[in-house]
Amino acid sequence: MNQVVLVLDFGGQYKELIARSVRNLEVYSVIKHGSLSVKEVCQINPIGIILTGGPDSVYGKGAAVCDKKIFELGIPILGICYGMHLLCQTFDGKVKQGSVGEYGRVEVFPENGDKSFLALMSHRDIVEKAPKGFTVTARTKNNIASFECVKRKLYGVQFHPETAHTEGGKEIIKSFLYDVCKAKGDYCLDDYIEKETIRIKERVGTEKVLLGLSGGVDSSVCAALLSRALPNQLTCVFVDHGLMRENEGNEIEEAFSNRSLNFVRVNAEKRFLKRLKGIIEPEQKRKIIGEEFVRVFEEEAGKLGCIPFLAQGTIYPDIVESGGKSGATIKSHHNVGGLPDELGFKEIIEPLSGLFKDEVRIIGRKLGLPRSLVNRQPFPGPGLSIRIIGEVAANKLDILRRADSIVRKELSELKNPPDQYFAVLTDTRSVGIKGDDRTYDLVVAVCAVYTDDFMTCEYAQVSHKVLSKISTRITSEVGGVSRVVYDITGKPPATIEWE
Ligand code: XMP
Repeated sequence: MNQVVLVLDFGGQYKELIARSVRNLEVYSVIKHGSLSVKEVCQINPIGIILTGGPDSVYGKGAAVCDKKIFELGIPILGICYGMHLLCQTFDGKVKQGSVGEYGRVEVFPENGDKSFLALMSHRDIVEKAPKGFTVTARTKNNIASFECVKRKLYGVQFHPETAHTEGGKEIIKSFLYDVCKAKGDYCLDDYIEKETIRIKERVGTEKVLLGLSGGVDSSVCAALLSRALPNQLTCVFVDHGLMRENEGNEIEEAFSNRSLNFVRVNAEKRFLKRLKGIIEPEQKRKIIGEEFVRVFEEEAGKLGCIPFLAQGTIYPDIVESGGKSGATIKSHHNVGGLPDELGFKEIIEPLSGLFKDEVRIIGRKLGLPRSLVNRQPFPGPGLSIRIIGEVAANKLDILRRADSIVRKELSELKNPPDQYFAVLTDTRSVGIKGDDRTYDLVVAVCAVYTDDFMTCEYAQVSHKVLSKISTRITSEVGGVSRVVYDITGKPPATIEWE
């Protein structure tokens, strides 16, 4: 068993970042709701506890609280922002609203005379008075920035050491883990593969497993791990809905061709296109594709006979977001609606459910999956159907695939490529001229964004030279396109996908 650090969440936006920072320092971490009882904490038996930030004020009505008995366990505790306020209030210090908030990078002055550093702050409330028995260890120009009670192993920081915006933040977390919690650093992903392999083997025995493979990072890594653990017991059903990008279906098939598994590719483009005929409303497209996906999957599962285990590429953030319920909410392989319970599987296995996305990518590389697959940008489950504005049709898919492959090729060569980039086929026609002929063809939009979390984004300020090349290539190499435009809208107010 790995040592574990417990991250208690009070609604802070950085909870996953905290848990990842801990894991990056080779200590396993789990995130639980801030209200976890002391009994449940003891069951987890953590070597340390980190209290996250959160939107509440500790003195406000209905503010998030934790089980106060956890402070009596003798387990080291680090409170971050709201977590620090909780510590402060619990031990009769004073938290109040500051006259002004501190947001962004603020200079912090350690009380021991060490050099000042910049730290990310995001708070309005402040610690006005540290509790009795606590020592203030750093201040900003106006406020207390950190305190500690070494005897009780309790530490509080007003700033966010888990973000890259705090200078030396990693060292602060490292010091908490290794100096205070006496971590051994026993978490590494090589071990994860080995341990998970043993666990899967024990659980599944000689039974068969079915996995819906979408070609996305999670289901692909899940397939690679399972085929390693259970050679020749895994069947992967890849429903090719015909809405993939250029050559993507073949790449997926190729990536799994020499693994010990049964790969079933269902070429279902025709039936998907038939059902999408005449549909222009984006949500309806999503719904139809979701339903059709389940239908095809059911049919294929039926043909394969009784398979007791269904595998899913659920990852840790899916579990955290669903309030800790694994398996209960079946993640669709296309993120377009769940697989129904009636499929009748005896058990669900989710071998990646303890991992963050970046860890899943590392495991994928360790298992020998191609980089193009492991580093794949997010691609919506409904595929290109929601990048074709209006009705989807085979000829439009052809145009979009070719335009999109040009966009992806040119932008992938940038020194600092955007986080997501693609082409959209609009339903606008415009007049053009090719040779001596007048054309009346479609407009392609190019999208490229930088983002940390895909919840918000900024459009990428790609150079005109690169944009011109993309435009020239698309209008000369792809028939049916008269004009290329560049999307210069961030999110908000737009979304990343156009539909
Ligand atoms: P939006 O368009 O909401 O997209 O700004 C945010 C991120 O999510 C991806 N996206 C989807 N992914 N199924 C998915 O699996 C979907 O239906 C879907 N819609 C959007 C999008 O590509 C972006 O990265």
